[in-house]
Amino acid sequence: MPATRPDGRAFPADFLWGSATAAYQIEGAADEGGRGPSIWDTFSRTPGKTLDGDTGDVAADHYHRVPEDVALMQALGLGAYRLSVSWPRVQPTGQGAFNDEGLAFYSDLVDRLIAAGIKPVVTLYHWDLPQALEDAGGWTVRATAEHFGRYARRLAEVLGDRVHLWTTLNEPWCSAYLGYASGVHAPGVTDGAAALAAVHHLNLAHGLAVREIRDVLGADAPVSITLNLHVTRAATDDPADLDAKDRIDTIANEVFLQPILEGRYPERVAADTASVTDWSFVQSGDLEIIRTPLTQLGVNYYSTGRVRAGTPAVGDGGPGPDGHRSSAHSPWVGADRVEWLPQPGPHTAMGWNIEPKGLVDLLLELRDRYPALPLVVTENGAAFEDVPDADGRVHDVERIAYLHDHVDAVGEAIEAGADVRGYFVWSLMDNFEWAYGYSRRFGIVRVDYATGERTPKDSAAWYAELVRTNAVPPVDAVVPALTV
Ligand code: FCB
Repeated sequence: MPATRPDGRAFPADFLWGSATAAYQIEGAADEGGRGPSIWDTFSRTPGKTLDGDTGDVAADHYHRVPEDVALMQALGLGAYRLSVSWPRVQPTGQGAFNDEGLAFYSDLVDRLIAAGIKPVVTLYHWDLPQALEDAGGWTVRATAEHFGRYARRLAEVLGDRVHLWTTLNEPWCSAYLGYASGVHAPGVTDGAAALAAVHHLNLAHGLAVREIRDVLGADAPVSITLNLHVTRAATDDPADLDAKDRIDTIANEVFLQPILEGRYPERVAADTASVTDWSFVQSGDLEIIRTPLTQLGVNYYSTGRVRAGTPAVGDGGPGPDGHRSSAHSPWVGADRVEWLPQPGPHTAMGWNIEPKGLVDLLLELRDRYPALPLVVTENGAAFEDVPDADGRVHDVERIAYLHDHVDAVGEAIEAGADVRGYFVWSLMDNFEWAYGYSRRFGIVRVDYATGERTPKDSAAWYAELVRTNAVPPVDAVVPALTV
């Protein structure tokens, strides 16, 4: 896959270049340090739920390799690192007593990052709900949102103003619909009504957490949420196809954007989902809490989708980040008459189509709708079949081309007036790709899972060059490879 966009586009002087990971995907040490079980421990240890039965028990062993991993980031020249806190590591049952050893782990990590000149961007929830809370109803019940608020407060007290940017939730779309509707993610429930209740309780959890963080750290405390907004296009201009696109936009994007940024649920959602739920879980005053103003909006972007009116095939989970293993149950609650069409290539090893223009379109739409809200691309990247050479080096030209074109797309959006403050490559290192286990590699650093050894890929050297020059390097800019 060759690059399709020009080299050399320059970025604003204070633009933040980072990389992203998530606790369950890299830490391992699942039963160490006083950590309690999460829904992903339970799910991944259940036969048939993940490819090859992979679990995050060891993952990239980051828990035991923090100094080495921070040194790696320093060698890359990163300005920021987006990590997530494992809720059950710091509060084993999700309520009540906190685990000092878990809190100390993140406090130490944050100190080390700052000492290395790297700004910590901290996500409070990247999908690893304490199992005890799931046993009490998980995101389908309101109490989970309230527990999340108290957990956020404690983290704010412990990490305080050392955190450059707080992110309450990562991709609540996945937590709600993949967790409770299609069931391809933990906790593996397949119930549309449960998924919509989860949508609301995740929104409420977000709002409560923003308020708790600001209560502890002051009204200026920098807080965000990260959404995986879906860029979906209608196959034709036929009203039925346009309606299919609208329906998907509503259920995928608007049920998060509108409550969080405008204080209301989208108008058509009640009618679209009337056969599933009456939304009586929304209580008076909730939307006020949910729309507490944000400092920035995090955007994760990988690919695009295309729909038309029709009957979906059984197991049609849709494209892109949503396809995360197909299921007999659709994640698209209330969209029984929407058909997803295959997207033209090229595709990544996830089967996701590569379309950098989708990122430009998304950022510009957000600029138009919320002009005062700064944006940050909190994830973007690609899995490819990496083949190490005899020296263990990975010449991942396809990943470089993908990053090259998407970074240029961000630059194009900035030049067109989008206020984008940073970009975080997914991911710093190969890791546990949820239901796909270790079969999909997204890292710019290779991880040998047998030994834990880290080897920067060519894309890491390319990314370091991007950070160093603050302009898009040519795809072949980087020899020799980065060494740590
Ligand atoms: C996103 C997730 C992230 C990773 C990438 C590939 O949906 O936030 O953890 O799995 O997809």
